[in-house]
Amino acid sequence: MIQKPRGTRDFLPDEMEARRSTEAKMREAVRRFGYREVCTPEFEDLELFTLRSGEGIMQEMYVFEDKGGRKLALRPEITAAVIRMYINEAKVAPKPLRWCYFADCFRYERPQKGRYRQFWQFGAELIGADTAMADAEVIMLASEALNATGVTWDLKVGHLAFMRNLLAGLEPAAQRRVMAHLDKKDFEGLAATLEGMGKSALNDSLTALVECRTLKEAFEIAGAIPEKDRVEQTMAILDAAGVTYSLNFGIARGLDYYTGMVFEGFAHNLGAENQILGGGAYRLAHLFGGDDVASCGFAIGFDRVMVSLGDAAPAKDTIAAIICTDEGRSFALAVARQFRAAGIRAEMDLMARGLGAQLARASKSADFAVVIGKREADAGQVTVKDLHSGEQKTLDPAAAVAEVKAYRTR
Ligand code: HAM
Repeated sequence: MIQKPRGTRDFLPDEMEARRSTEAKMREAVRRFGYREVCTPEFEDLELFTLRSGEGIMQEMYVFEDKGGRKLALRPEITAAVIRMYINEAKVAPKPLRWCYFADCFRYERPQKGRYRQFWQFGAELIGADTAMADAEVIMLASEALNATGVTWDLKVGHLAFMRNLLAGLEPAAQRRVMAHLDKKDFEGLAATLEGMGKSALNDSLTALVECRTLKEAFEIAGAIPEKDRVEQTMAILDAAGVTYSLNFGIARGLDYYTGMVFEGFAHNLGAENQILGGGAYRLAHLFGGDDVASCGFAIGFDRVMVSLGDAAPAKDTIAAIICTDEGRSFALAVARQFRAAGIRAEMDLMARGLGAQLARASKSADFAVVIGKREADAGQVTVKDLHSGEQKTLDPAAAVAEVKAYRTR
């Protein structure tokens, strides 16, 4: 028997319905902020991701050569692709651009619960605005999108300027190594790396920075940073907007393109893979041959949201089984059409089963049986049976439609 590739999943209809319903809530949340959906290719030139995405991502990438000898990669994330698209298609569009996406990504990671080789990100990119208000809008947006799903989670907001100020004396490659330890919260590795660089003195200030929870302390530890006003303004806007968050200056982010404000979200009820959100301000466009446009965005780990929601995932669609005898079939076809026109899922027997067998089958998966025998067909009525409670009523088709439609809301 052929199995699906390691780290991938199949989704049966119940699960797909729960996923689509959660996705719709996120879409609606970002729509209300004016974000519009974009779509990029599933694979891109390898170079798009090797230019600035960072060591970690590069090691996890699915890379292949096509028949024309082009080096391609399955997208490990969407941000780089969106910025490439911005340069190719929308460079002259009025700024800012508010774009969102829901798409699958591929990373060759060690699979476990909440960590997959194919996973979905719901994200947004705000392109061409470089203000505290822009930083804050993206955080608000991520927050609204996650809250709309019903997950319980914590938001942590930081800014790279503090860490970068402390690391200013190190070469860029050394800075990246230190930040990779911080991203993984690997403090032993951090101490060893700093010792190897002869920079053990940095260990105390970095640890203090990671632990501090107020702007005042962070400024004391990191010293004067040019972004001070911007950071203060961003946090003031978040406070005014009623966003719940805590400050965390240990956020280093796994990707290399971030330049300023950064944030992450963590689900309350998940274990090791509890990070459900990551984002921040970044610059990528200039690396891909465009102008040096400031951008800010986030991606929500959609699959982790679904794991976190678990049984709290949305209820599935109502199903009405339209059950009929041969004499009732013509009327039943019209009734089924009426149910479908009202947006209700209506299924008819395809197996030439008798009434009893149709009812038995319906009771396994449908919520209602709408029974049409000769008597009902002659009277222009249907018998609606609630398959959960057993209650049944004889109604005309319009009333039956209303009855079934009201089911999920009663
Ligand atoms: P990221 O933190 O690498 O950021 O990924 C975003 C989210 O995707 C993570 O917080 C996590 O929930 C989810 N995720 C990552 N890897 C996996 C996996 N193997 N299985 C399941 N879920 C996973 C980015 O990708 C950036 N592009 C975010 C961004 C957008 N920054 C600016 N704009």
